[in-house]
Amino acid sequence: MFFAGTQKKVVGVDIGSSSVKLIGLSRVKGGYHLESIGIAPVPKDCIVDGEIYNIGGISNVLRELVNASKVKGASAFTGVFGSGVVVKRIKVPIMPKEELEHHIKWEAEQYVPFNIDEVNLDYDVITPNYKKSGKMDLVIAAAKKDLVSSYSAVLYDSGLVAEGIDIGSFALYDMYKENYGSTKEEANILIDIGASRSLINVIEKNRCVFVKEIEYAGEYFTQKIQEQLGITFEEGEALKVSSEDGTLPPEVEKILISEVKKLAVEVRKSLDLYLATASELPVGDISVVGGGVKLVGVTKVIESVTGIPVEIVNPMRNVAFNEKIFPTSYLSHIAPFFGVSVGLAIRGLRY
Ligand SMILES: Nc1ncnc2c1ncn2[C@@H]1O[C@H](COP(=O)(O)OP(=O)(O)OP(=O)(O)O)[C@@H](O)[C@H]1O
Ligand SMILES: [Mg+2]
Repeated sequence: MFFAGTQKKVVGVDIGSSSVKLIGLSRVKGGYHLESIGIAPVPKDCIVDGEIYNIGGISNVLRELVNASKVKGASAFTGVFGSGVVVKRIKVPIMPKEELEHHIKWEAEQYVPFNIDEVNLDYDVITPNYKKSGKMDLVIAAAKKDLVSSYSAVLYDSGLVAEGIDIGSFALYDMYKENYGSTKEEANILIDIGASRSLINVIEKNRCVFVKEIEYAGEYFTQKIQEQLGITFEEGEALKVSSEDGTLPPEVEKILISEVKKLAVEVRKSLDLYLATASELPVGDISVVGGGVKLVGVTKVIESVTGIPVEIVNPMRNVAFNEKIFPTSYLSHIAPFFGVSVGLAIRGLRY
């Protein structure tokens, strides 16, 4: 978290490449309570590789959501993704905390492909019990300052108070942990299948230690349907999402299954890379979230390619709500899109 405040009710805003999601949560005993929720489409190419190319366009979308959800002036938290964000597990010689504060910048310089003065840098010590190896394990998190300030500008322009800009992957993990608990014996794999990218996160001992983005995601799948059937992108998208009411044409299903296999192969490669470079623990189950989980056969295909059980995450599992205000069927329909935003609100409630 790069800057923070204190609030009881907070709003998590996930600015995705295909839609903006807003959720207001408060804390209740044993979990969270839903105060407000909204999702709105983003015009094409406003967000590319996590960067906002059209601040005004995104602000307009978010402002409408803010007004409709009646959260104007609320404390808001958002998350950043893309190649302007680096999360990396590193080893450094053992040193006192004060020394590490100074040393970390020098260490990070070797892993962050930008000028170190142009990034917000944070770090976390993973293994307090590091005496055996003689090294300390750290996770460094860096996000480009201009990226952070553009997200902050969008929140302000939309009538929210920007309280914190977070690393999106960290928010995803918090969402998972608060809904499903944590395990320290295995590494958890958490995959967000969005529109422009799928984000593979490995969680070890309650920390996100490995993050990789791959191109196989919703938009890519629609493009393949478009190319192979010779139709427009919009027609391809309509065919793809029709699987939700069980009417997917066989030729579309065939394309989707073979393209989702590519996603699964990349997941397997990323896990191999993780196991070869950064692993301390055996790999546990895979959990998936994001609009892409609605794709036909997605869990089965990933399971068969990786040999690892796959479960679909419900970001609202531990979020209570008033059924008279938020119909259950509507919430279960939109829940998969809210993984990141729920996590952002949860992190926000801690500050
Ligand atoms: N019923 C459905 N079947 C298949 N795919 C679906 C369905 N509904 C939505 N999707 C896909 O989910 C994707 C949107 O998911 P999500 O909202 O998680 O992405 P995003 O956050 O906007 O994008 P990103 O995280 O990549 O920036 C779109 O590609 C959309 O086509
Ligand atoms: Mg997303």
